Amino acid sequence: MIQFPPGTYRHATDRWGSFKRQCATLPEGALAVVDRTVARLHPQVIKSLEARKPRAIIQLTGGESAKSFKALEQVLVAGLSMPRSGTLIAIGGGTIGDVSTVAAHLLKRGVRLVQVPTTLLAAVDSSLGGKGAVDITVRGRVVKNPVGVFHYAEEAWLCPEFFASLSDTQLREGSLEAWKMVASLDEELFLSYSRRAPALERMVKDARRLKESVCAQDPYELQGLRRVLNFGHTFGHVLESVSRFQLSHGDAVGLGMLCALDVGRAMGITPDEVAWQVEDALHQGPGVLGRERTADLLARAKLKDVSALLSADKKAGSAGELRMILITDVGKAVVRDVSEDVWRALWPAWTQGVRP
Ligand SMILES: NC(=O)c1ccc[n+]([C@@H]2O[C@H](COP(=O)([O-])OP(=O)(O)OC[C@H]3O[C@@H](n4cnc5c(N)ncnc54)[C@H](O)[C@@H]3O)[C@@H](O)[C@H]2O)c1
Ligand SMILES: [Zn+2]
Repeated sequence: MIQFPPGTYRHATDRWGSFKRQCATLPEGALAVVDRTVARLHPQVIKSLEARKPRAIIQLTGGESAKSFKALEQVLVAGLSMPRSGTLIAIGGGTIGDVSTVAAHLLKRGVRLVQVPTTLLAAVDSSLGGKGAVDITVRGRVVKNPVGVFHYAEEAWLCPEFFASLSDTQLREGSLEAWKMVASLDEELFLSYSRRAPALERMVKDARRLKESVCAQDPYELQGLRRVLNFGHTFGHVLESVSRFQLSHGDAVGLGMLCALDVGRAMGITPDEVAWQVEDALHQGPGVLGRERTADLLARAKLKDVSALLSADKKAGSAGELRMILITDVGKAVVRDVSEDVWRALWPAWTQGVRP
């Protein structure tokens, strides 16, 4: 039988339960990377890890700074003596997961990875799908995710106690990514969520199932099928960037979805009533920030800078055209090339904070 090396595509096993209980299955000698805040808020994490005689426990400060070469090197140095059969366990939000994924890919040309997402965003999105990346700072500006790998986790441990220490803002950011998948991929779930807000665990399970089904068809992003997961991300990234990353990724995606609905309407792809329905649901459900926030952010930006940001966007097509995910109906996403005239015509409304 062919043996697949650690990190190659597989359907990750999701295991639900307390960290303490799951940790009893961790092989001895593992390398653990832990978000410092999580270690402080949940002291049983370090205790449970120590009981498994780990090789090392590296604590990193969660946030974009964790996705640096410096942090990556720290993890690699701690894992130098690891055998190829060793396990790296990442306990934290998306930033800890991303840097750990790169480290797991590089150590001994690939070691086993276990993801323990502790933010809702990581649980619904980043801990699944195999992607990891670090950032590079060029002339003082952070370029996000230019250096990355695909390295699939073998297991994900979903421990509800971690979600209990998240703030309302952190919960909103994660919910917006989950709603992104539901609004663009699954009408039935969208209608059910709109009628009644889902329980947290339900939302995590649904989002993971949706993302997994997309990734399974295109595990290494070779066919472009995974693009549908980027609904709301084109203008979301612009807003994140013009805010100098003061606006969180989840909130930026929320506002980016409103922009994508406007673009869809302007191109005759998204019917008006669908756009209103999704926008209303994003307000009632996860609580997308208002259009005035988009206006505030864009007021600081120059059109030509936004244009440059969009052409640098990795979702641009080979001829440099803007390639966006738009919806034709609730739960139905399409990829469309968008000309600059279209979004420029929406600019006055966006900068006034009103619906075009
Ligand atoms: N790999 C992917 O497919 C993928 C997908 C989406 C996003 N991402 C990346 O994920 C990152 C964002 O992830 P994130 O929002 O989890 O950010 P994060 O890792 O920065 O965590 C956000 C904050 O929450 C804190 N935190 C973590 N767990 C906590 C807990 N249980 N209780 C209280 N506080 C806690 C962290 O210390 C941090 O301050 C970005 O870098 C983004 O690029 C990656
Ligand atoms: Zn995202």
